[in-house]
Amino acid sequence: MLRTLRPGQPADCDALYRLEERCFEGDRFSRRQLAHLLSRANARTLIAVTDDQRVIGYGTLLFRRNSRTARLYSFCVDPEARGSGLGRELLQALEAAARERGSQRLALEVRADNRVAMGLYRRMGFVAHRWLDDYYADGCAAWRMDKRLDAIEATNVASAE
Ligand SMILES: CC(C)(COP(=O)(O)OP(=O)(O)OC[C@H]1O[C@@H](n2cnc3c(N)ncnc32)[C@H](O)[C@@H]1OP(=O)(O)O)[C@@H](O)C(=O)NCCC(=O)NCCS
Repeated sequence: MLRTLRPGQPADCDALYRLEERCFEGDRFSRRQLAHLLSRANARTLIAVTDDQRVIGYGTLLFRRNSRTARLYSFCVDPEARGSGLGRELLQALEAAARERGSQRLALEVRADNRVAMGLYRRMGFVAHRWLDDYYADGCAAWRMDKRLDAIEATNVASAE
C-alpha cells in the first residue's frame, strides 16, 4: 500500500477522531482535544495517508518551553494497516521531527499491558525507567520510557506547510 507522511492540519480532526475510535478502547481524545492539538504551536502531528488520502496512522509530539525533552503524546496505526512497518516509519519520522525542533530526548508513557507497542519502543532504543501505578482511566499501570535523540537524520515527510 502506498502511503505518505505529512504534517497534521486542523481539517484532519474528524479523520483522527475516527482513527482513534478504531485504535483505542478507552482514554481517547475528544474532537475538541484533537482540534486543540492540531492547532497549538507547541505540538506537532504527523499523519500517514494512503494514496487516496485515507488517514491510516498518526502521532503527536508535545514540546515544552525550556525543555529539551519532547513527549510522544499519541501514536497509533489503523488495525488494517498494522504489521507492515508503518508504526516504525512513523516513529522514526516523529523522532526526526523532535530533533529538528532541538529536542535531545523523546519520552512517552505506554500501558503496561501493551506488549506490541512496548516491543516496538524497545527495539527503537527506548528504555523503560519509571512505573506509574494506576495511570489510565481503567486502572492500568504505565511505563514511562525515553530515548536519547542523537544525530540529525533526514526525514521523508512531505511538506504541507
Ligand atoms: C503500536 C502500533 C502503532 C504499531 O503499529 P504497526 O504499524 O503495526 O507497527 P510496525 O508494523 O512498524 O511493527 C512494529 C513492530 O511490532 C511488531 N508487531 C506488529 N504487530 C505485532 C503483533 N500483533 N504482535 C507482535 N509483534 C507485532 C512488528 O513485527 C514490528 O517489529 P520490528 O520492530 O522488529 O520490526 C499499533 O499496533 C497500534 O496502533 N496499536 C494500538 C494503539 C497503540 O497501542 N499505540 C501506542 C500507544 S503508547
